[in-house]
Amino acid sequence: MNKRFYVTTPIYYVNDIPHIGHAYTTIAADILARYNRLLGNDVFFLTGTDEHGQKVEKAASEKGRSPKEQADLMVENFRALWQRLDVSNDAFIRTTDEEHTKTVQGLLQMLLDRGEIEKRSYAGWYCTPDERFWTEKDIVNGNCPDCGRPVEQIHEENYFFLMSKYQERLIKHIEENPDYVLPETRRNEVLGFLKNNALGDLCISRPKQRLSWGIPLPFDENFVTYVWFDALVNYFSATRYLVSHAGEAKLGDFWWPASHHLVGKDILTTHAVYWSTMLMALDLPLPGNIFAHGWWTVEGKKMSKSVGNVVDPHAMADRYGVDAFRYFLFREVPFGLDGDFSEQALINRINTDLANDLGNLLSRFLTMAEKYFKGVVEKPVGYTIAAKDLPGHCIAACISAHDKRNWTHLRFNIILEHIWDIVRAANNYIAQTEPWKLAKTNPVFLKDVMFDLWNALRLTAVSLCPFMPETAEKIWRQLGLRSLTEETMKSILSESGKGLPGTLNWEWNPDYEITVAKGEQLFPRIEKDRKEKVEENKTETVSKEEKPELHNLITIGDVAKVEMKIGKVVSAERVKKSDKLIRLQVNTGEERQIVAGIGKAYSPEDLVGKKIVVVTNLQPAKLMGVESNGMLLAATGADGVPVILMPEKDVEEGAKIK
Ligand code: ME8
Repeated sequence: MNKRFYVTTPIYYVNDIPHIGHAYTTIAADILARYNRLLGNDVFFLTGTDEHGQKVEKAASEKGRSPKEQADLMVENFRALWQRLDVSNDAFIRTTDEEHTKTVQGLLQMLLDRGEIEKRSYAGWYCTPDERFWTEKDIVNGNCPDCGRPVEQIHEENYFFLMSKYQERLIKHIEENPDYVLPETRRNEVLGFLKNNALGDLCISRPKQRLSWGIPLPFDENFVTYVWFDALVNYFSATRYLVSHAGEAKLGDFWWPASHHLVGKDILTTHAVYWSTMLMALDLPLPGNIFAHGWWTVEGKKMSKSVGNVVDPHAMADRYGVDAFRYFLFREVPFGLDGDFSEQALINRINTDLANDLGNLLSRFLTMAEKYFKGVVEKPVGYTIAAKDLPGHCIAACISAHDKRNWTHLRFNIILEHIWDIVRAANNYIAQTEPWKLAKTNPVFLKDVMFDLWNALRLTAVSLCPFMPETAEKIWRQLGLRSLTEETMKSILSESGKGLPGTLNWEWNPDYEITVAKGEQLFPRIEKDRKEKVEENKTETVSKEEKPELHNLITIGDVAKVEMKIGKVVSAERVKKSDKLIRLQVNTGEERQIVAGIGKAYSPEDLVGKKIVVVTNLQPAKLMGVESNGMLLAATGADGVPVILMPEKDVEEGAKIK
């Protein structure tokens, strides 16, 4: 049976549109999912949205929507972004899914029946934005120790999950499983916290009169479930209903527990402590790993809506390409540490690593292959790697790039560095062997050199595939290989079992007839004037609202629906008892009557004989009892005074406006 690999992202709140932080975790999960598919593992990659709770309810009421309307609208932003960023999630969970709701209620009932949940009256300090209770000693000058915002004193009855009794077991589990919480610094923080503080019990309900937007407790209709209890269960509930039904064996128990939960550092406690103890109480296995990544600042500042520096992943993908953005996020900063984002740093990476190192290597190789061998690549007879630098270097770099510990510890930047070792070694190899000289002096050796370069590029493409799927495919095709399918990749990577991926043990298939095909440049350099533009655009980040509103754009088809023509005003008079309305007879190829609110800015005699712009397919309407068949176009001038649009040169009446 294949190895099972199940990776999750946090499920994101639908109170706002996605930003670089959301993209970061989700692309990381995508890299892991893609890599594991290539290894031939059975992969389940889950992402989704967290739709209950106060944050969402508040955002919805501010917009005058119901929480469900808010969720239905906002969820599309997440789905669209994942598609745009080439994210290959297998499923998308929404906590408003009926099956999820039922699972949450089932687990709550089970915990109550087992005596793991108790009702208590409670007084505590509550941080509304974070939806968390704090004790007296936690709060700092009346503010939340986490977000710094004021907390309020709350007295109420609630249900508590008896989390405290799992404290020792959790410490033991983390100590005995060094990879359970990663990176190590975060593991030490969690252990330090658990060893030095008495773990409290977890309030898992909210009275309905305070918050109604949540999953009702199955045993008390006056309460809904605390949003974090509901949200964390998603990782488990999805395995019950969102995995494809390709055989019962792949449902339920096959998928649980997750291999990796990827989370941001701010939500590590909820995962490492709440979720772990919930699973213990439910007698369910714990996940293999919880990995907390760092946060991005933007040009040294905390990213925030009020500062207006929130990075929009759509804009980055549009401006620099999806793969360059994906590469940058994981090359620039070790996953797990905080990093600083700037477009200048992104441009530098594109120009150096992508355009200079990788793009140039491919293009130089293809040019030489076409020049010296009419594009044909073959494994030379009697080929040997003896005394050659490149194949040896590729072997070492590949072993490191595919080193299991690098992957289990999510050392993406190090893996990319090893892949670039191959790229740089290949570039050096060209400089050392000088193929243009060999073409004259030693064409037999030149064949070896070209084969080595081809193989180095092939290994680069394979290794890069999880990070930059589109680029990998482009390289692959230009190398004359067929589609970079999972099958191809699996067969190459499985060679690593015998030695290492795709080098020494790799059998040249005698059926191969490889002719390279130079295609478009992979990564054009971004020149200085573009950089300046970036400087100008720097503040152009997500300051807008949610996508559907942000995208109040119309299509060309919508424009085509509006019929506009040039009309000549034949006569005009004021509408009785109105100082604003003027009735116009206009010839737009046929005569029509239009009533327009321009009476304060124009007198009727000014208008006669003028050419104006008229919307001619507007439904008729009555204004002060006078029928109007169309609308003239006017701009709003200073103080709101209308200014009629007129053609700059004379145009025949009836001329269409396109
Ligand atoms: O926390 N850099 O949802 P969320 C990197 N619904 N990551 C960042 C970041 C930044 N500047 N800002 C935020 C939730 N993040 C819950 C999760 S899971 C059962 C429930 C990360 O929409 C942050 O660390 O607030 C977190 O992982 C995610 O974005 C925010 O998700």
